[in-house]
Amino acid sequence: MKTLARMIAAGSIAAATLGLVALPVAAQDYPTRNITMIIPFAAGGPTDVIARIVASDMSKTLGQQIVIENVVGAGGTTAAGRAAKAAPDGYTLIMGHMGTHAASVALYPKLAYNPETDFEPVMLAAGTPILILARKDFEPKDLKEFVAYLKANEAKVNQAHAGIGAVSHVTCELLNSVLGIKPTGVPFNGTGPAMNALVGGQVDYMCDQIVNAVPQINGGTIKSYAIATPERNPSLPDLPTTLEAGLPAYQVSAWNAIFAPKGTPAPILAKLNAAAAKALDDENVRKRLLDLGSDIPKAEGRTRQALAALVKSDVARWKSVLKPTN
Ligand code: MLT
Repeated sequence: MKTLARMIAAGSIAAATLGLVALPVAAQDYPTRNITMIIPFAAGGPTDVIARIVASDMSKTLGQQIVIENVVGAGGTTAAGRAAKAAPDGYTLIMGHMGTHAASVALYPKLAYNPETDFEPVMLAAGTPILILARKDFEPKDLKEFVAYLKANEAKVNQAHAGIGAVSHVTCELLNSVLGIKPTGVPFNGTGPAMNALVGGQVDYMCDQIVNAVPQINGGTIKSYAIATPERNPSLPDLPTTLEAGLPAYQVSAWNAIFAPKGTPAPILAKLNAAAAKALDDENVRKRLLDLGSDIPKAEGRTRQALAALVKSDVARWKSVLKPTN
């Protein structure tokens, strides 16, 4: 005869197998309608491109469409503030990045959200090395000439970025501080439109995530002086690293990651994390991300805890990098 304990245990196992233990009905059925993924920058830029690649595969796994909504302004912080205040029900997500969810803390004394406490990390989607880019007819031929030219002409050069706190802003702040220059900054709603201005020759240079630049570099519509990683990238094998090209002090990479508002139920976060991990294992998704030069996180980098730790360490890192450069 079964003991009560065994019956309870057996019942628990059966219920758990059916997904009935401690799962509110809404979490159990999730998702039953479209999910919105907020992108903090203009369409066509790196965050938008990564989000669309990953979200389309997640939609198939979840059985509901992830609808992309571009919400621009204030270097991505307008969108992140809105996502932080959304209902924590799994139907609003954000593709944040190293700017919105780390560096901005150092730059906005009244930031409307705290990346560490107002969000639930879902998963790191991609690492994105930073490139130094210029309009195709910019005079300097290589990185050494570029450095010398910027130092000699800082008053007349202009640098595109995607708003205060954006990756393109903070990574070029780092470059400018290494060079000891203060060029004129030209803000856009994302590096999608900033790239159009670079291609059109309206701005001189930009620091941008590789995902936004591979097609233009290969098409010859812009030039790149170096990639700011220790190793060359397989998507641009001829592009030297900053180490090789004579600027070893400039080393920086960014990342993009999915977040949900604080308080989103754990079972929903687990479903989203699993769907995102499945997307990163999909051959087509991997090819598209790798062709654009991004780094795909390995298993240990795909946990919610790993993303929480990354946000924490990058908030601290960018505080120490940006405060001294003011
Ligand atoms: C974008 O998607 O436009 C970029 O991620 C903006 C940036 O942070 O530089």
